[in-house]
Amino acid sequence: MKMLRYTLVAAALLGAQSLLFSLIPWAPAAAADKVCKLEITGNDQMQYDKKDLSVAADCTQVQLTLKHIGKLPKEAMGHNWVLVKAADLTAVANAGMTAGLPASYVQAGDKRVIAHTKTVGGGESDTITFSTAGLAGQSLMYLCTFPGHNALMRGTFKVG
Ligand code: CU
Repeated sequence: MKMLRYTLVAAALLGAQSLLFSLIPWAPAAAADKVCKLEITGNDQMQYDKKDLSVAADCTQVQLTLKHIGKLPKEAMGHNWVLVKAADLTAVANAGMTAGLPASYVQAGDKRVIAHTKTVGGGESDTITFSTAGLAGQSLMYLCTFPGHNALMRGTFKVG
């Protein structure tokens, strides 16, 4: 009798566990995440190596690496990678300029900034991961917000 009671309790616990798993929506969603990797470089001639970046529509996350392949320090030729809506590019560049190097030329709490790396100098790199949620179909651009760089250092970004 005691044995039967234990069996029943065990069965109830197992049932509760499988019910719990089926109720957690993030468990299967996390397994279905697709992380797509991108790489872009910046050099001492104030240039990115790519004018366009894109990921497929089924990418849920983007892992982007910015690599500075030059030799100049970040105080002289720093580069970052900042993702914005095309319409916000100039305003974000201006706000970044006044934010300064300690803030990586990105104004703290700037809601127009969708994602950004830190500012790197020659030989350095930075990798960031961000969600593509809500980005498909939008007119997006990336830029370097180091003062004066965005005229040359900008490109289009597309999801899908
Ligand atoms: Cu730059």
